[in-house]
Amino acid sequence: MPVLEDVFSLADQVAIVTGAASGLGRVFAYALAGAGADVALLDINGKGLHETAEHVRSLGRKAYAYTVDVADEIQVLAAFVELEKAAGHIDILVNNAGVGQAYQGMIHEYPSSEWHRLIDVNLNSVFYCSREALKRMVARRKGKIINISSIWGLVGGGFVRAGGYATTKGAIVNLTREMALEYAPYGIQINAICPGFHRTGLGNFDDPEFAQLMTSHTPAGRVAEADELQGTVIYLASSASSFMCGSIIAVDGGFLSQ
Ligand SMILES: NC(=O)c1ccc[n+]([C@@H]2O[C@H](COP(=O)([O-])OP(=O)(O)OC[C@H]3O[C@@H](n4cnc5c(N)ncnc54)[C@H](O)[C@@H]3O)[C@@H](O)[C@H]2O)c1
Repeated sequence: MPVLEDVFSLADQVAIVTGAASGLGRVFAYALAGAGADVALLDINGKGLHETAEHVRSLGRKAYAYTVDVADEIQVLAAFVELEKAAGHIDILVNNAGVGQAYQGMIHEYPSSEWHRLIDVNLNSVFYCSREALKRMVARRKGKIINISSIWGLVGGGFVRAGGYATTKGAIVNLTREMALEYAPYGIQINAICPGFHRTGLGNFDDPEFAQLMTSHTPAGRVAEADELQGTVIYLASSASSFMCGSIIAVDGGFLSQ
Protein backbone atom coordinates (compact mmCIF):
# COMPACT_ATOMS: atom_id res chain seq x y z
CA MET A 1 0.00 0.00 0.00
CA PRO A 2 1.45 3.43 -0.95
CA VAL A 3 2.27 5.76 1.95
CA LEU A 4 -0.21 8.60 2.41
CA GLU A 5 2.31 11.26 1.43
CA ASP A 6 2.75 9.61 -2.00
CA VAL A 7 -1.00 9.27 -2.49
CA PHE A 8 -1.39 13.06 -2.46
CA SER A 9 1.92 13.89 -4.14
CA LEU A 10 1.91 15.65 -7.53
CA ALA A 11 5.68 15.42 -8.04
CA ASP A 12 6.77 15.43 -11.72
CA GLN A 13 3.29 16.46 -12.87
CA VAL A 14 2.25 19.48 -14.88
CA ALA A 15 -1.05 21.14 -13.95
CA ILE A 16 -2.95 23.86 -15.83
CA VAL A 17 -5.16 26.31 -13.95
CA THR A 18 -7.39 28.71 -15.86
CA GLY A 19 -8.38 31.95 -14.15
CA ALA A 20 -5.21 31.77 -12.05
CA ALA A 21 -4.65 35.51 -11.63
CA SER A 22 -6.87 35.82 -8.56
CA GLY A 23 -9.36 34.21 -6.22
CA LEU A 24 -9.86 30.45 -6.26
CA GLY A 25 -7.58 29.95 -9.29
CA ARG A 26 -4.66 31.50 -7.45
CA VAL A 27 -5.34 29.26 -4.44
CA PHE A 28 -5.47 26.20 -6.73
CA ALA A 29 -2.16 27.16 -8.38
CA TYR A 30 -0.43 27.53 -5.00
CA ALA A 31 -1.90 24.27 -3.69
CA LEU A 32 -0.90 22.28 -6.78
CA ALA A 33 2.62 23.71 -6.60
CA GLY A 34 2.72 22.95 -2.88
CA ALA A 35 1.89 19.32 -3.69
CA GLY A 36 4.85 19.19 -6.10
CA ALA A 37 3.41 20.06 -9.54
CA ASP A 38 4.76 22.55 -12.03
CA VAL A 39 1.91 24.87 -12.94
CA ALA A 40 0.71 26.53 -16.15
CA LEU A 41 -1.39 29.59 -15.50
CA LEU A 42 -3.93 30.98 -17.96
CA ASP A 43 -5.78 34.23 -17.39
CA ILE A 44 -6.88 37.34 -19.23
CA ASN A 45 -5.38 39.46 -16.42
CA GLY A 46 -1.65 39.52 -17.20
CA LYS A 47 -0.62 41.46 -14.07
CA GLY A 48 -2.34 39.12 -11.62
CA LEU A 49 -1.10 36.16 -13.60
CA HIS A 50 2.54 37.16 -13.20
CA GLU A 51 2.07 37.72 -9.45
CA THR A 52 0.71 34.17 -9.16
CA ALA A 53 3.60 32.85 -11.27
CA GLU A 54 6.18 34.59 -9.07
CA HIS A 55 4.71 33.01 -5.96
CA VAL A 56 4.63 29.53 -7.55
CA ARG A 57 8.35 29.95 -8.38
CA SER A 58 9.03 30.98 -4.78
CA LEU A 59 7.59 27.57 -3.79
CA GLY A 60 10.32 25.93 -5.88
CA ARG A 61 8.12 24.89 -8.81
CA LYS A 62 8.12 25.98 -12.46
CA ALA A 63 5.39 28.39 -13.53
CA TYR A 64 4.34 28.96 -17.15
CA ALA A 65 2.16 32.05 -17.54
CA TYR A 66 -0.06 32.67 -20.58
CA THR A 67 -2.18 35.79 -20.94
CA VAL A 68 -5.14 34.25 -22.71
CA ASP A 69 -8.86 34.81 -23.14
CA VAL A 70 -10.12 31.28 -22.51
CA ALA A 71 -13.35 32.11 -24.35
CA ASP A 72 -11.28 32.34 -27.56
CA GLU A 73 -10.53 28.88 -28.93
CA ILE A 74 -7.63 30.06 -31.09
CA GLN A 75 -5.87 31.59 -28.07
CA VAL A 76 -6.52 28.43 -26.03
CA LEU A 77 -5.13 26.20 -28.76
CA ALA A 78 -1.99 28.34 -29.08
CA ALA A 79 -1.37 28.30 -25.32
CA PHE A 80 -1.60 24.49 -25.18
CA VAL A 81 0.84 24.14 -28.09
CA GLU A 82 3.29 26.50 -26.39
CA LEU A 83 2.91 24.74 -23.05
CA GLU A 84 3.48 21.33 -24.57
CA LYS A 85 6.72 22.60 -26.11
CA ALA A 86 7.82 24.12 -22.82
CA ALA A 87 6.70 21.46 -20.34
CA GLY A 88 6.55 18.30 -22.46
CA HIS A 89 3.32 16.92 -21.03
CA ILE A 90 0.07 17.85 -19.30
CA ASP A 91 -1.29 15.80 -16.39
CA ILE A 92 -3.95 17.95 -14.74
CA LEU A 93 -6.39 20.63 -15.93
CA VAL A 94 -8.42 22.79 -13.56
CA ASN A 95 -11.15 24.59 -15.51
CA ASN A 96 -11.68 27.45 -13.10
CA ALA A 97 -11.90 30.73 -15.08
CA GLY A 98 -15.32 32.27 -14.84
CA VAL A 99 -17.31 35.45 -14.50
CA GLY A 100 -20.33 36.36 -12.42
CA GLN A 101 -23.36 37.95 -13.95
CA ALA A 102 -23.42 41.66 -14.61
CA TYR A 103 -27.23 41.56 -14.93
CA GLN A 104 -29.53 40.28 -12.20
CA GLY A 105 -33.04 39.83 -13.43
CA MET A 106 -35.63 37.59 -14.96
CA ILE A 107 -35.09 35.68 -18.19
CA HIS A 108 -37.80 37.57 -20.15
CA GLU A 109 -35.71 40.74 -19.72
CA TYR A 110 -32.30 39.11 -20.05
CA PRO A 111 -29.93 40.87 -22.50
CA SER A 112 -28.58 38.55 -25.22
CA SER A 113 -25.10 40.06 -24.93
CA GLU A 114 -24.90 39.08 -21.24
CA TRP A 115 -26.24 35.59 -21.96
CA HIS A 116 -23.61 34.98 -24.66
CA ARG A 117 -20.81 36.43 -22.51
CA LEU A 118 -21.60 33.97 -19.72
CA ILE A 119 -21.86 31.00 -22.10
CA ASP A 120 -18.59 31.99 -23.80
CA VAL A 121 -16.48 32.55 -20.68
CA ASN A 122 -18.00 30.06 -18.23
CA LEU A 123 -18.96 27.18 -20.51
CA ASN A 124 -17.27 27.33 -23.91
CA SER A 125 -13.90 27.81 -22.21
CA VAL A 126 -14.35 24.49 -20.39
CA PHE A 127 -15.00 22.79 -23.73
CA TYR A 128 -12.03 24.47 -25.48
CA CYS A 129 -9.53 23.75 -22.69
CA SER A 130 -10.79 20.22 -22.03
CA ARG A 131 -10.62 19.37 -25.74
CA GLU A 132 -6.97 20.44 -25.95
CA ALA A 133 -6.06 18.67 -22.71
CA LEU A 134 -7.90 15.47 -23.65
CA LYS A 135 -6.09 15.17 -27.00
CA ARG A 136 -2.87 14.88 -25.03
CA MET A 137 -4.25 12.86 -22.10
CA VAL A 138 -5.82 10.20 -24.37
CA ALA A 139 -2.45 9.67 -26.05
CA ARG A 140 -0.84 9.07 -22.64
CA ARG A 141 -3.81 7.14 -21.15
CA LYS A 142 -3.57 9.35 -18.07
CA GLY A 143 -5.01 12.62 -16.78
CA LYS A 144 -7.21 14.52 -14.36
CA ILE A 145 -9.71 17.26 -15.17
CA ILE A 146 -11.38 19.25 -12.42
CA ASN A 147 -14.22 21.54 -13.42
CA ILE A 148 -15.27 24.37 -11.14
CA SER A 149 -19.05 24.57 -11.23
CA SER A 150 -21.08 26.11 -8.39
CA ILE A 151 -23.94 25.40 -6.03
CA TRP A 152 -25.92 27.19 -8.76
CA GLY A 153 -25.03 24.30 -11.07
CA LEU A 154 -27.18 21.96 -8.98
CA VAL A 155 -30.10 24.23 -8.08
CA GLY A 156 -31.69 27.23 -9.73
CA GLY A 157 -30.20 30.65 -9.06
CA GLY A 158 -33.33 31.60 -7.12
CA PHE A 159 -32.88 34.50 -4.73
CA VAL A 160 -29.84 35.91 -6.57
CA ARG A 161 -31.67 35.79 -9.95
CA ALA A 162 -28.62 34.10 -11.51
CA GLY A 163 -30.40 32.61 -14.55
CA GLY A 164 -27.52 32.98 -17.01
CA TYR A 165 -24.80 32.06 -14.52
CA ALA A 166 -26.75 29.05 -13.18
CA THR A 167 -27.31 27.82 -16.73
CA THR A 168 -23.57 27.76 -17.44
CA LYS A 169 -22.75 26.07 -14.13
CA GLY A 170 -25.47 23.43 -14.62
CA ALA A 171 -24.08 22.69 -18.08
CA ILE A 172 -20.61 22.25 -16.58
CA VAL A 173 -22.03 19.59 -14.23
CA ASN A 174 -23.41 17.53 -17.09
CA LEU A 175 -20.39 18.14 -19.32
CA THR A 176 -18.34 16.74 -16.43
CA ARG A 177 -20.49 13.60 -16.32
CA GLU A 178 -20.37 13.16 -20.11
CA MET A 179 -16.61 13.57 -20.30
CA ALA A 180 -16.10 11.33 -17.26
CA LEU A 181 -17.97 8.49 -18.97
CA GLU A 182 -16.18 8.93 -22.30
CA TYR A 183 -12.69 9.09 -20.85
CA ALA A 184 -12.82 6.76 -17.81
CA PRO A 185 -11.70 3.84 -20.02
CA TYR A 186 -8.61 5.88 -20.98
CA GLY A 187 -7.41 6.23 -17.39
CA ILE A 188 -8.59 9.85 -17.22
CA GLN A 189 -10.66 10.97 -14.22
CA ILE A 190 -12.94 13.97 -14.63
CA ASN A 191 -14.84 15.44 -11.68
CA ALA A 192 -16.35 18.76 -10.60
CA ILE A 193 -16.40 20.93 -7.51
CA CYS A 194 -19.51 22.97 -6.67
CA PRO A 195 -18.37 25.70 -4.28
CA GLY A 196 -20.76 27.63 -2.10
CA PHE A 197 -19.99 31.23 -1.15
CA HIS A 198 -16.22 31.84 -1.01
CA ARG A 199 -14.69 35.26 -0.42
CA THR A 200 -13.14 36.33 -3.77
CA GLY A 201 -13.54 39.19 -6.21
CA LEU A 202 -16.49 37.39 -7.81
CA GLY A 203 -18.98 38.54 -5.18
CA ASN A 204 -19.23 41.90 -3.46
CA PHE A 205 -18.19 40.49 -0.08
CA ASP A 206 -17.02 43.90 1.19
CA ASP A 207 -20.64 45.04 1.08
CA PRO A 208 -22.08 44.02 4.50
CA GLU A 209 -25.56 43.60 3.01
CA PHE A 210 -24.27 41.17 0.34
CA ALA A 211 -22.13 39.24 2.85
CA GLN A 212 -25.06 39.00 5.28
CA LEU A 213 -27.42 37.73 2.56
CA MET A 214 -24.97 34.95 1.56
CA THR A 215 -24.29 34.09 5.22
CA SER A 216 -27.99 33.89 6.03
CA HIS A 217 -28.43 31.23 3.31
CA THR A 218 -25.48 29.14 4.53
CA PRO A 219 -26.12 26.65 7.39
CA ALA A 220 -22.47 26.98 8.53
CA GLY A 221 -23.33 30.60 9.36
CA ARG A 222 -20.46 32.16 7.42
CA VAL A 223 -18.97 32.47 3.96
CA ALA A 224 -15.73 30.56 3.31
CA GLU A 225 -12.22 31.81 2.59
CA ALA A 226 -10.85 30.89 -0.86
CA ASP A 227 -8.11 28.70 0.62
CA GLU A 228 -10.70 26.34 2.13
CA LEU A 229 -10.90 24.67 -1.30
CA GLN A 230 -7.23 23.75 -1.58
CA GLY A 231 -7.61 20.27 -0.06
CA THR A 232 -10.49 19.37 -2.38
CA VAL A 233 -8.54 20.30 -5.50
CA ILE A 234 -5.49 18.29 -4.37
CA TYR A 235 -7.72 15.32 -3.61
CA LEU A 236 -9.19 15.40 -7.15
CA ALA A 237 -5.82 16.09 -8.81
CA SER A 238 -3.96 13.27 -7.07
CA SER A 239 -4.07 9.47 -6.94
CA ALA A 240 -6.22 9.82 -3.80
CA SER A 241 -9.20 10.03 -6.19
CA SER A 242 -8.02 7.35 -8.66
CA PHE A 243 -11.46 5.65 -8.76
CA MET A 244 -13.58 8.81 -8.91
CA CYS A 245 -15.16 9.53 -12.28
CA GLY A 246 -17.97 12.04 -12.80
CA SER A 247 -18.37 12.94 -9.14
CA ILE A 248 -19.80 16.33 -8.27
CA ILE A 249 -18.46 17.52 -4.92
CA ALA A 250 -20.23 20.32 -3.08
CA VAL A 251 -18.14 22.44 -0.70
CA ASP A 252 -20.84 24.75 0.48
CA GLY A 253 -21.23 25.00 4.26
CA GLY A 254 -24.38 22.88 3.98
CA PHE A 255 -26.19 25.05 1.41
CA LEU A 256 -27.33 22.17 -0.81
CA SER A 257 -28.50 20.02 2.09
CA GLN A 258 -31.25 22.48 3.00
N1 LIG B 1 -16.20 32.71 -5.19
C1 LIG B 1 -17.28 31.94 -5.08
O1 LIG B 1 -18.03 32.04 -4.11
C2 LIG B 1 -17.59 30.93 -6.14
C3 LIG B 1 -18.63 30.03 -5.90
C4 LIG B 1 -18.95 29.09 -6.85
C5 LIG B 1 -18.22 29.00 -8.01
N2 LIG B 1 -17.21 29.88 -8.23
C6 LIG B 1 -16.46 29.75 -9.49
O2 LIG B 1 -15.09 29.71 -9.19
C7 LIG B 1 -14.36 30.17 -10.34
C8 LIG B 1 -13.32 31.19 -9.89
O3 LIG B 1 -14.00 32.35 -9.44
P1 LIG B 1 -13.43 33.30 -8.27
O4 LIG B 1 -14.45 33.32 -7.22
O5 LIG B 1 -12.06 32.94 -7.95
O6 LIG B 1 -13.53 34.71 -9.02
P2 LIG B 1 -12.37 35.73 -9.43
O7 LIG B 1 -13.09 36.82 -10.16
O8 LIG B 1 -11.54 36.08 -8.25
O9 LIG B 1 -11.46 34.90 -10.43
C9 LIG B 1 -11.84 34.58 -11.75
C10 LIG B 1 -10.61 34.61 -12.63
O10 LIG B 1 -10.98 34.24 -13.96
C11 LIG B 1 -10.34 35.14 -14.84
N3 LIG B 1 -11.08 35.26 -16.10
C12 LIG B 1 -12.31 35.79 -16.28
N4 LIG B 1 -12.63 35.77 -17.57
C13 LIG B 1 -11.60 35.20 -18.22
C14 LIG B 1 -11.33 34.91 -19.58
N5 LIG B 1 -12.22 35.20 -20.54
N6 LIG B 1 -10.17 34.34 -19.91
C15 LIG B 1 -9.25 34.05 -18.94
N7 LIG B 1 -9.43 34.31 -17.64
C16 LIG B 1 -10.60 34.87 -17.29
C17 LIG B 1 -10.31 36.47 -14.10
O11 LIG B 1 -9.36 37.36 -14.65
C18 LIG B 1 -9.98 36.01 -12.69
O12 LIG B 1 -8.59 35.95 -12.46
C19 LIG B 1 -15.40 30.70 -11.32
O13 LIG B 1 -15.66 29.75 -12.32
C20 LIG B 1 -16.62 30.90 -10.46
O14 LIG B 1 -17.81 30.82 -11.20
C21 LIG B 1 -16.87 30.83 -7.32
